[in-house]
Amino acid sequence: MDRPASRAGVDAAAFRSAMRQLAGGISAITVGQDDDRTGLTVTSVSSLSADPPSLVFCINRSSSSWPVLVRRRTFAVNVLSPAQIGVAERFSGRGGAKGAARYEGVRWSRLVTGTPVLRDALAVLDCEVEELVERFGSAVVIGRVVAAEVRVEAAEPEALAYWRGTYGILRL
Ligand SMILES: Cc1cc2nc3c(=O)[nH]c(=O)nc-3n(C[C@H](O)[C@H](O)[C@H](O)COP(=O)(O)O)c2cc1C
Repeated sequence: MDRPASRAGVDAAAFRSAMRQLAGGISAITVGQDDDRTGLTVTSVSSLSADPPSLVFCINRSSSSWPVLVRRRTFAVNVLSPAQIGVAERFSGRGGAKGAARYEGVRWSRLVTGTPVLRDALAVLDCEVEELVERFGSAVVIGRVVAAEVRVEAAEPEALAYWRGTYGILRL
């Protein structure tokens, strides 16, 4: 049997290449309000607990969303559909859009915290920051969910996924 790789043997490239095999759903995290709003695209959202309703996501602390999140201590998770690849692209910063410009071209509303939520997302979860766990250059954000809605009018049997560095459509 092969010996296990030594602990020191995993470099960042090997780690990234292994993680590319993990398919993930895509969400836009919205932070801030009015002119002080920005956000980021993530695959790292995961449920933490149903009682109390809470979730986690991971954020690189060099992201422009980090200082806004720390200051406001609220955010929203917008679960994206295949129709919203454009939102995913804008919130990943790839086209160069920054801050409020990432919100252009689609309709937004608010739930409890005042953070913008995407009207036509598959689902939206409005959250208060419960804890920020800083590790290395990133942080695990623990959010307490204060409102959650499935946007029924947008519900199609299709989800937006990301796998091996490419967007894909998950269809039932
Ligand atoms: C599919 C996809 C998933 C991503 N997942 C994460 C994530 O979980 N955490 C994170 O910090 N950045 C993630 N990113 C990168 C951020 O979206 C991107 O770095 C950020 O929006 C740009 O930061 P800026 O606001 O400083 O321009 C992801 C990007 C893509 C395209």
